Amino acid sequence: MDKRSWAEPYKIKMVELLKMTTLQERKAAIRAAGFNTFLLKSEDIYIDLLTDSGVGAMSDRQWAGLMMGDEAYAGSRNFYHMRDAVSEYYSYQYTVPTHQGRGAENILSQILISEGDYVPGNMYFTTTRLHQEIAGGQFVDVIIDEAHDPDSTHPFKGNVDISKLDQLVAKVGADKIPYVCIATCVNMAGGQPISLHNLKAVRDWCDQHQVLLVHDMTRVAENAYFIQQREPGYQDKTVKEIVYEICALTDAATMSSKKDAMVNIGGFLAMNDEGLYERACELVVVYEGLHTYGGMAGRDMEALAIGIKESVQDNHMRARIGQVEYLGQQLEAASVPVVKPFGGHAIFLNARAILPHIPQSQFPAQALAAALYVESGIRSMERGAVSAGRNAKTGENFMPKLELVRLTIPRRVYTQAHMDVTAESVVRVMQSADQVKGLRFTYEPKMLRFFMGRFTEVDTDD
Ligand code: F0G
Repeated sequence: MDKRSWAEPYKIKMVELLKMTTLQERKAAIRAAGFNTFLLKSEDIYIDLLTDSGVGAMSDRQWAGLMMGDEAYAGSRNFYHMRDAVSEYYSYQYTVPTHQGRGAENILSQILISEGDYVPGNMYFTTTRLHQEIAGGQFVDVIIDEAHDPDSTHPFKGNVDISKLDQLVAKVGADKIPYVCIATCVNMAGGQPISLHNLKAVRDWCDQHQVLLVHDMTRVAENAYFIQQREPGYQDKTVKEIVYEICALTDAATMSSKKDAMVNIGGFLAMNDEGLYERACELVVVYEGLHTYGGMAGRDMEALAIGIKESVQDNHMRARIGQVEYLGQQLEAASVPVVKPFGGHAIFLNARAILPHIPQSQFPAQALAAALYVESGIRSMERGAVSAGRNAKTGENFMPKLELVRLTIPRRVYTQAHMDVTAESVVRVMQSADQVKGLRFTYEPKMLRFFMGRFTEVDTDD
């Protein structure tokens, strides 16, 4: 075994200076933002762990690629580079660019879902489920029960419980299931991978019931790295080989290339079926742009083609996951309750355990994210009851088992010292946890409420 540390396989060529703020400034900023970290101004942030989406550091090669942009309305050479990278590394024959992942989700949902359909998936993702609902479908969670347990150390918490698929088909029939949607490195479960063994079983199930298998491949390379590290039989395979094998088991994919592939903007829908491709091309021109740019600039497609290749390198992925694990280890050493095993893109704090005095109806994860910002200028994200939203049919609040704060690590951006500061800050918040108050909505958007919702503190005598 390679005993060397996970040190980065790159060096820093340019830096972005950060503004340092005072406690008073941060208290004012979080109030002005309605206790929602999405509404903070980026310049008021010291370490931004809101997301890993669109915030990675591009390589010098990707920046050079930007200069090679062919900004033709139709048939840009960069589109062909991107399409070729998708088929070489991800196996899909046809690619339709979109402005980001949700653009691809919209098109796919509109094509495949009819009113009254059910779409099973290994846990929901916010935009994915919403597009399924808008198209008339209903999301059904078929992930294994362990995924909902922050203390379970199952190595593949992204796995599907096949018996849940069987139950669904027995209840509604296969003709009401247009496809099974499988995410690699399941975001809402804490960045947890699916095993290839399980994915093959899902493939067999889909073949048996003649149901399509769609892949949300936003973090497929991170998933592949975990397979290499944990799944028997894959230790000698490269991340690149495993990524290809995962993709080749599925029929179509939606991609937010702002994550794994390290571009600031972009996504695509990819598939092997020509008929599906033709229908996607018809819709992409309505919502995104011509089928050879779909909302992306030529230069961004070039950076994406290069980013795809960089994202599947073993040494890149080892440092990427190594840094996330490092933060997890610092927190664990300080007895902070975190979701285990550590995720691929983030460490998730268990807000219920950190703030046991705040009931879930007062959004402990939202309150914890706000408190962490006030403590140190670190921005994180709520992934609990606020994100889960309301049941589209009954209007009732979902109360998910996981009430988490996500410390999401952008790719190739922060240093080990930033991770140390982050861990120290979480510990300080925990030490004065009883000072943190619950929150209630003062403004609740109807859809995706976590983005723009506003809150105020609940006073104990309320
Ligand atoms: N699927 C997954 C698993 C995602 O994590 C995201 C975005 C999307 C689809 C949608 O892609 O943002 O390009 O439209 N996740 C970001 C996050 C926003 O912070 O987790 P998009």
